[in-house]
Amino acid sequence: MNQQRAPIDGETLITPDLIAASADASGVAGNRKSLVDAEATLALALGVALDRLKNEGHVEQAVGYLFRTLHEMRTRLLPAVWQQLIPLVQNHPVSAYLHQDPFTSWSFEKPRGYSGDAKLLDFIYGHPSVTPLVAAATPLGRAVYNYTSNAPAAAAVRERRDLLTQYVDRVAAQRKGGAEILAIAGGHLREGECSSALQERRLGRWVALDQDPLSVGSMVQDYAGTAVEAVNGSVKGLLGEVYRLGHFDFIYAAGLYDYLPQAAAVRLTQTCLNMLKPGGLFLFANFNSDISDDGYMETFMNWPLLLRSKKDMWDIINASMDVDVYEPNVFFGENRNIIYGTCQKR
Ligand SMILES: C[S@@+](CC[C@H](N)C(=O)[O-])C[C@H]1O[C@@H](n2cnc3c(N)ncnc32)[C@H](O)[C@@H]1O
Repeated sequence: MNQQRAPIDGETLITPDLIAASADASGVAGNRKSLVDAEATLALALGVALDRLKNEGHVEQAVGYLFRTLHEMRTRLLPAVWQQLIPLVQNHPVSAYLHQDPFTSWSFEKPRGYSGDAKLLDFIYGHPSVTPLVAAATPLGRAVYNYTSNAPAAAAVRERRDLLTQYVDRVAAQRKGGAEILAIAGGHLREGECSSALQERRLGRWVALDQDPLSVGSMVQDYAGTAVEAVNGSVKGLLGEVYRLGHFDFIYAAGLYDYLPQAAAVRLTQTCLNMLKPGGLFLFANFNSDISDDGYMETFMNWPLLLRSKKDMWDIINASMDVDVYEPNVFFGENRNIIYGTCQKR
């Protein structure tokens, strides 16, 4: 796993600055030549992309070229060297072109004060709530958005939403009307919009916890009169058992473990497993360690994530559960950009 030493703050929210600060600065000292070479390669690539973006007919090629180049450099270079390149990318004139994409600029500017908020995910979902922002963008910005919102990681996030809906509907069918669901870091709970069990009132309750009051407010408004119970709360509060939420048939966390270092991930997994009813299922998702969007996300979007391999997922599971009590599994989504870990209580 990359950047395993990243620290966590009081609410287990990781910021780009914390991740950057965790990179081993001594890695650069012994690799000056590597850094100088990388800076030259980068300057050339950014210059090529800038020329292409100035000619608006080549937007897709220019953004695709940047995705590939930044991914290749992030993969090849030492993490400490790569960290030195991030501000060079962000301060290059080409950024002004890419930030005409409202998705890229929302991520970079962080209007809610942290990375990966639920509104950012709405750009990926193509949700009607962001349609005015996309419509107000320049033609070039809309062309960049067309690329970034269809890149492999974004496609995997849409698949994740649909997969969660399927799990909820399946659990609802099995529990015949009384299913109790818990979404941790629920965001705007967009998976609820596609759930037939929710629409047909076949759920007992669907508790959705999030630390962001704006996201909680959005869920309260969108799901008034349904089984959804939005709760303003944090991972820290869950670990401290301050909410007394009870027990559930299905507990899941999507878009959260990507911000949790190993120790916090294990503690959260243990807490969730303790909240399962007999036969209940826990699922957590994480971006895969070799996604091709990583370089673009970390630079132009200032959106670093803790990427995990299948082994990293197994390490969390093995450190959290007793095989006599839970049946574990780890699997990839269709384009392998997101990995899922599950534990079914026997
Ligand atoms: C990337 S969004 C994912 C939202 C939703 N699960 C989805 O897949 O669309 C991450 C969400 O995690 C929430 N979050 C981040 N850290 C949290 C924490 N420590 N406790 C509770 N929620 C947290 C954020 O407020 C945000 O809504």
